[in-house]
Amino acid sequence: MSNLKYLTGFGNEFASEDPRCPGALPEGQNNPQVCPYGLYAEQLSGSAFTCSRQTNKRSWLYRILPSVCHKPFASMEQGYLTHNWDEVDPEPNQLRWMPFIVPKSSEKKVDFVMGLNTLCGAGDVRSRNGIAVHIYTCNISMTDKCFYNSDGDFLIVPQLGKLLITTEFGKMMVEPNEICVIQQGMCFKVDVFGETRGYILEVFGAHFELPDLGPIGANGLANPRDFLVPVACYEDYKAPSGYTLVNKYQGKLFAAQQGFSPFNVVAWHGNYTPYKYNLKNFMVINCVAFDHADPSIFTVVTAKSTRPGVAIADFVIFPPRWGVANHTFRPPYYHRNCMSEFMGLIKGHYEAKEQGFQPGGGSLHSIMTPHGPDADCFEKASTADLQPERVAEGTMAFMFESSFSMAVTKWGLETCNRLDKNYQKCWEPLKSHFNPNWKSSTK
Ligand SMILES: [Fe+2]
Repeated sequence: MSNLKYLTGFGNEFASEDPRCPGALPEGQNNPQVCPYGLYAEQLSGSAFTCSRQTNKRSWLYRILPSVCHKPFASMEQGYLTHNWDEVDPEPNQLRWMPFIVPKSSEKKVDFVMGLNTLCGAGDVRSRNGIAVHIYTCNISMTDKCFYNSDGDFLIVPQLGKLLITTEFGKMMVEPNEICVIQQGMCFKVDVFGETRGYILEVFGAHFELPDLGPIGANGLANPRDFLVPVACYEDYKAPSGYTLVNKYQGKLFAAQQGFSPFNVVAWHGNYTPYKYNLKNFMVINCVAFDHADPSIFTVVTAKSTRPGVAIADFVIFPPRWGVANHTFRPPYYHRNCMSEFMGLIKGHYEAKEQGFQPGGGSLHSIMTPHGPDADCFEKASTADLQPERVAEGTMAFMFESSFSMAVTKWGLETCNRLDKNYQKCWEPLKSHFNPNWKSSTK
């Protein structure tokens, strides 16, 4: 499966047909009276019909049977997946999570859908404005089962184990240090190869796009050509005991049965597709003289709100790079932010929080909650002989940053490593460097 083929580009008008059925893609029109091979034409809309050309998204799928051929939905068990942000009282403290535990397959078999646990979030799926952060932990593949999300887009960040994701548009292999985006309504299933863990940023009511580059110019950060889109690959498969279609709708899971695989798309075209991206391709821009650029310089993709410059959520990474700033405190500065910051670690270690922040874990710094480097980091960085140095070698940390004031779920608080006491030790050793003589000497 490592020889999967992909199309390249971000949001292009793509077209793909399975080579087993040449000519499956209708020419010159979307909806012929009779499609080639007797296929059914079906449109998947990713934007309002009347959106501007810049934001209009849709794809046409040519399939063996249309998606409508399923039995009625019925509600199903959904574990710790929730969009109820009032489960527990608001919690402004800094929160950290040790690596999320992946169940052993010998004890409990969990697939990707049943392994979705909601950690925090805000906003409303019904009014189409908000976000959720989920952790997935699973150990078996989805068999004769697929999933689609009516509520929003999933940005998936694998941390442990690769994912073979079969979509209506084709297959993608997504490994740790890569991300993928499955947009609203796209049907997919996930095969895994052992114990598997990762993070999901879900946004309601917006799609991810590349950030504007402003004075950076035409090139830099995540370049469009490095985004990969699957190619059409159908399966003509009738499930002997039924195929289960799972739908997340208004934050609840529903299941319906059908007799065939939904991955029966022989050809498709359009600009509304799933895609993946390898974080190693991110072209890092940073300070080359003194001081810090703000972390927005590390934005991979952004889901914009209607307020200019304010994101529903940004996906930001802290990749390996050179640190060269002169006469500068180089680690992240102390700050308080009008945005919520959820951070995770794919691999390595993050310099500003050595303790209790491990690959597969996480942290949440809520709106205006003060945070910054621990005392040890401060002392080292304040006294370091500043030479050009490699920063974050072998490390990939990331942040889901949101303008929403995120609430932690009950599951989030129960799994949290509440560091209220231990955690304060990180800053208690900070000593005052205030020099009273300085004041008198400047009189
Ligand atoms: Fe921060």
